[in-house]
Amino acid sequence: MIRKILSAPYYRIRHALAAWTWRIRNRITGHPGRPEAPPNTTTLEFLATTGCKNIAEIGVEWGSTSKEIAKWLEGKGVLHLFDYEDRVKLVAERLRQAGFTNIVGHGNSRRTLDSYNWSLMEILRDGNVPAFDYVFLDGAHTWPIDALAFFLIDRLLAPGGYLDFDDYDWTIDSSPTVNPRVYPPMRRLYTEEQMRSQQVALVVNLLVRKGGNYEELVPNKIFRKRS
Ligand SMILES: C[S@@+](CC[C@H](N)C(=O)[O-])C[C@H]1O[C@@H](n2cnc3c(N)ncnc32)[C@H](O)[C@@H]1O
Repeated sequence: MIRKILSAPYYRIRHALAAWTWRIRNRITGHPGRPEAPPNTTTLEFLATTGCKNIAEIGVEWGSTSKEIAKWLEGKGVLHLFDYEDRVKLVAERLRQAGFTNIVGHGNSRRTLDSYNWSLMEILRDGNVPAFDYVFLDGAHTWPIDALAFFLIDRLLAPGGYLDFDDYDWTIDSSPTVNPRVYPPMRRLYTEEQMRSQQVALVVNLLVRKGGNYEELVPNKIFRKRS
């Protein structure tokens, strides 16, 4: 066993140790979390082909992708960040310290039924529409939150704007950090069937594709709103 661990490449050992540490952390704190992820290169490469200037990243976590978007914007336009308020505060502060002033944070509480959908509702209510020309939706990845998020984003997105989904295939059950073996509170929130379902795929298949108003540009990921 020890020989096997020692012969594994360094990055695999590091990743396994990090995942194990986060599992323990999740158990102790009761809040699901995971180590810092790399920036989403597919999103960044596609974004660089557009002239978008009003960008929303929904689900920012540690800000890996946010930082690269802010760099790409070079101070032009606005980057809107949505997540839990503690995360948004941290990421927005880091970006401002790095010299980026075109950042707007939209944090929500950690109450069970709260989400970025409340922040999206506030923008809609206040009439700043269309608010975005690019939305990267990388938040809860669940039907109860992201099905509504889709309809709100659709109201806020300019015609010709882009809607970018992460993790089409993701399931709660296959997640290393929030599967019910590692994070038991999931069992109070979702059925076994729901935990095994690809819930982002449900949003894409049933709402985006069947709605007929979006052109698919990157399979299962990036869609352009027609009108
Ligand atoms: C996969 S991470 C985002 C990664 C980030 N886009 C990046 O590329 O580095 C998902 C994020 O969604 C946020 N999220 C999940 N459920 C949420 C909710 N109900 N309200 C607000 N944020 C939520 C999590 O806090 C987490 O930071």
